[in-house]
Amino acid sequence: MTERDELREQIHTLVAAYYRQAHSAVPFTPGESRVNYAGRVYDERELTAAVDAVLDFWLTAGPRAATFEDGLARFLGLRHALAANSGSSANLVAVSALCSQRLERRLQPGDEVITPAVGFPTTVAPLVQNGLTPVFVDCELGAYNLDPEQLEPALSERTRALFFAHTLGNPVEMDPVMAFARAHNLYVIEDVCDALGSAYDGKMVGAFGDLATLSFYPAHHITTGEGGAVVTGNSKLARIAQSVRDWGRDCHCRYNSPPNGACGRRFEWRIPGLDEPYDHRYLFTEIGYNLKMTDMQAAIGLAQLEKLPDFIAARKRNFSCLYQDLRCYEEFLILPTWSKRADPSWFAFPITVRPGAPFSRRDLITFLEGRNIETRLLFAGNIVRQPGYRHIKHRTVGDLPNSDIVLRSTFFIGVYPGLDDARIAYILETFADFVDSL
Ligand SMILES: Cc1ncc(COP(=O)(O)O)c(C=O)c1O
Repeated sequence: MTERDELREQIHTLVAAYYRQAHSAVPFTPGESRVNYAGRVYDERELTAAVDAVLDFWLTAGPRAATFEDGLARFLGLRHALAANSGSSANLVAVSALCSQRLERRLQPGDEVITPAVGFPTTVAPLVQNGLTPVFVDCELGAYNLDPEQLEPALSERTRALFFAHTLGNPVEMDPVMAFARAHNLYVIEDVCDALGSAYDGKMVGAFGDLATLSFYPAHHITTGEGGAVVTGNSKLARIAQSVRDWGRDCHCRYNSPPNGACGRRFEWRIPGLDEPYDHRYLFTEIGYNLKMTDMQAAIGLAQLEKLPDFIAARKRNFSCLYQDLRCYEEFLILPTWSKRADPSWFAFPITVRPGAPFSRRDLITFLEGRNIETRLLFAGNIVRQPGYRHIKHRTVGDLPNSDIVLRSTFFIGVYPGLDDARIAYILETFADFVDSL
């Protein structure tokens, strides 16, 4: 072993010892400890992986980013994954890729994209940014996904794509949605930011559409801190998406390409109007950004990826415990619903206070938060009512009544793997106390 390897080993040992001192779990004290809705679940392996990457000091996307991308693609059964610096960036890359001039059927300004009104704003923002017109459809209460019945009424001559999230990990009813997309020759982008590991009909969500996106923000199924990815089975779209992510450049070399490039003729590319050959690294065929992930983030992602099957199992278990117990309050609360064909890898546990219940959402979440149980609203609720989105060019199908109910009456609590039996029991006791107090 070289001195360098020895030092590295000592550092690993120290990092693990530091983890145990500084980061290991604090015992749960009901009422005093915060019951978060989500959070990073990690141990010394993530810390060691991150420190290891720092020791290598490969500051940008390097070998770990490439391995992380390969692992993600393998997990989803897809050919390509492109790590990005957030789920929002991944959404921007996916939409922008479909606007590429390299596509015969590219999305063009003024084209319409059907998308649910309930969701996260950065599913919609890239549509606006690319001059596309969102056509908002309503959701089904309980499932909170786009209502397939609304697709037909949303259709116009300009409809070119569907872009929707599998809300809070709950798979969209993909059979009718994909049939509709096929019938009308529409692109499909799946926002899988909250649904890594969810399946429909035995197939991972994210593997249905032309492109899909992931987020690794700490609340999500795995984390890299900030982070995300675009995944696809389509090699042409992958090339375009990579270019959009990487400054718009045509060159698609990874970190370890030979000096003459993966193409083998790096310095022989042509720019129209120039009689000299040009370096492929500086040939820009897309309007691009720089939205890449760093190797330090990817190092953490790799450690998390190994734990993903256990994380998914814990999320399902926690969801199921909450669901079994909260069913007795269905008179007041709309509990989550999901398709018979779906196997959700839940992000959270959504609840809608029924119109006519003897309490409001505010009453319930104030009670829960007062007992140190963290709650969240279903993101933007009805996005059309958000100040930043009220004035964008859009269409809606009807008045979006369910989206308004979500805006007013829906919230969620956590199911993440950081919730152990004691915390789940405490959440359930607190619901019982609330109902007793009515
Ligand atoms: C459905 C959905 N899409 C996109 C995003 C954006 O991801 P990020 O926070 O990584 O930008 C989120 C964020 O939580 C989300 O829930």
